[in-house]
Amino acid sequence: MPVSKEVHLVARPDGEPKPEDFAVIETNVDAPGPGQIQVRNDWISVDPYMRGRMNDTKSYVAPFRLGEVMDGGAVGTVVASESPDVPVGASVLHFQGWRQYALMDAARAKVVDTEAAPAQAYLSALGMVGLTAYAGLTAIAELKEGDVVFVSGAAGAVGSLAGQMARQLGASKVIGSAGGPEKKRRLLEEFGFDAAIDYREGDLEGQLAEAAPDGIDVYFDNVGGDHLRAAIQGMRVHGRAALCGAISVYNDTEPAPGPDNLGLLVGKRVKLQGFLVGDHGDLAPEYYERAAGWLAEGKLHSKVTVVDGIDNAVDAFLGMMRGANTGKMLVRLPA
Ligand SMILES: NC(=O)c1ccc[n+]([C@@H]2O[C@H](COP(=O)([O-])OP(=O)(O)OC[C@H]3O[C@@H](n4cnc5c(N)ncnc54)[C@H](OP(=O)(O)O)[C@@H]3O)[C@@H](O)[C@H]2O)c1
Repeated sequence: MPVSKEVHLVARPDGEPKPEDFAVIETNVDAPGPGQIQVRNDWISVDPYMRGRMNDTKSYVAPFRLGEVMDGGAVGTVVASESPDVPVGASVLHFQGWRQYALMDAARAKVVDTEAAPAQAYLSALGMVGLTAYAGLTAIAELKEGDVVFVSGAAGAVGSLAGQMARQLGASKVIGSAGGPEKKRRLLEEFGFDAAIDYREGDLEGQLAEAAPDGIDVYFDNVGGDHLRAAIQGMRVHGRAALCGAISVYNDTEPAPGPDNLGLLVGKRVKLQGFLVGDHGDLAPEYYERAAGWLAEGKLHSKVTVVDGIDNAVDAFLGMMRGANTGKMLVRLPA
């Protein structure tokens, strides 16, 4: 019976989460019963939406419970199995992250092919993150050949993929915004953006106008706040914004005021639409086929920032919320 370390939420954060809001607990993991598997996690995902789950508020996903292990995406290796469908040694994608070992019904795990792609790819380009970028650009923003596209949070997991996919989907110019000169450099040199904005330099609106003097057609919003305001300002007539997330306000304790330039939407006939990747599973087969091709041809670069060890998972999450990552932030657990 393996002893497993797991991360509990022990206090609801007030504003920015603190290490004391979490605790690493040791627990025994039972042997699998009929139809169950026991999994040793190899990679666990830390994601911005988890910040919302730390609040006790009604949302599209239930809050984490205090004093209990959190959950989230993970890929692991099956170490014991009572299921004929999922043998020992298989790599599986599942939702019992934030722990070293997990016990689950085999039906709740999806076997992934680690010969086709490394295990961690199923938590980034070949997983929810990549599908989010694709669904936002296609189903929501209805990206067309020749569009000028602006992506915020562009050096992050979703944003870095969205920028590169926009190019593959026919954008004539792709502009990204991220924090700091090093990320700005990486947008241009590693992710192939045509223009990059360091939002920490200020004057977002001016920087966007300089990068896109004739305006933008599509905005992929990961950040909200001042980025959304600047994008509305820069929109061309019939522009479309896919509202994917608003990380700039996730730690706010009071509702943030909305952009003060919404009046522009009328004259410009602009569409703003929020979306959740969970509603776009129908696009998954099409996306995974295209993504596998882009990855194989070197047209899509999927970067990860790796933090080692379950004891450092909270630091990985807190660091991701502050911008310590380029590409997907993942926690690697030793075998
Ligand atoms: N709608 C959906 O179904 C769906 C699915 C997945 C993700 N999302 C959303 O997509 C967004 C990106 O998620 P991700 O997993 O790819 O995370 P990520 O971009 O890899 O990581 C978060 C990034 O946010 C940036 N950031 C933090 N505070 C900021 C601020 N005040 N202003 C501007 N940027 C800030 C940081 O980059 P800098 O160093 O550049 O500041 C950080 O690296 C999030 O809003 C998330 O909630 C939505």
